[in-house]
Amino acid sequence: MKKLYLFVILIIIVIVGTYILMNQGKDKNTSSENNTTQNESTQSATDNKKFTLEEIATHNSEDDCYLIIEDKVYNVTSFISSHPGGQAILQGCGTDATTLFETKPMGSNTPHSQSARNLLQSYYIGDLI
Ligand code: HEM
Repeated sequence: MKKLYLFVILIIIVIVGTYILMNQGKDKNTSSENNTTQNESTQSATDNKKFTLEEIATHNSEDDCYLIIEDKVYNVTSFISSHPGGQAILQGCGTDATTLFETKPMGSNTPHSQSARNLLQSYYIGDLI
């Protein structure tokens, strides 16, 4: 009878032990899956689209206007019709427009305001190679 008790207790220990070990394994898997997802998202955040000057130069019209400001590329096509400086922005299409943006030579000869800079961020599409 004593032997039977010992046997049952042993079986319980084995079952509980196996259960605990299996759960630990699951936890490890889940956290490593999470890590992979995190790494992927970090990578895609830094893995921005890259453009060459030649590629930008093909987007040089009112209907398709990319411009470069401080090595960042912006697609401002949809903004042209609401630009407070009117058609002046068209001179920057397809080019490195950093100086134009900073100086507005055909206007007040002053840099764009902070709110213009903030607005610019919503048109960001990538970086110059
Ligand atoms: C790169 C080519 C551009 C040129 C040549 C240009 C030129 C001008 C000019 C002449 C004005 C009229 C006011 C003034 O003379 O001071 C103006 C105003 C303005 N532009 Fe542009 N612009 C350009 C690009 C942009 C872009 C890409 C944005 C934003 C996405 C922008 C946003 C504004 C805003 C918000 C104003 C109102 C004044 C201010 O907040 O500075 N412009 N711009």
